[in-house]
Amino acid sequence: MPAFERHVFVCHNNRPAGAPRTSCTADGKSDLHTQLQTLSKEAGLAGRVRINKSGCLDQCEHGPMVVVYPEAVWYGNVQPQDAADIVSEHLVGGRPVERLRVAEDCLNTRSCPHRG
Ligand code: FES
Repeated sequence: MPAFERHVFVCHNNRPAGAPRTSCTADGKSDLHTQLQTLSKEAGLAGRVRINKSGCLDQCEHGPMVVVYPEAVWYGNVQPQDAADIVSEHLVGGRPVERLRVAEDCLNTRSCPHRG
């Protein structure tokens, strides 16, 4: 079996109320992962692109977070309705969705003024 062309990690971390950092899901549930998987399969990417739920990606203040490898493209404030653009433009077309990208200088910067 050939290696995956891309690997997509969708943060599903859920912290208890009152935690010092935010979480990408409110209750550990999110339609985003399901949407990405469904649309990816419909686009014929099964076996070529792997889409996994992940724990915290340490970019919580920009969440909900998605990261796509091998390009290491980080998407922030991603909503289920954004899944179609990620699949069609990035996973099929090879062009990252610029409107969802977290700027390089915002990654690992908790006080970033652009956080969602
Ligand atoms: S909780 Fe999602 S990046 Fe930390």
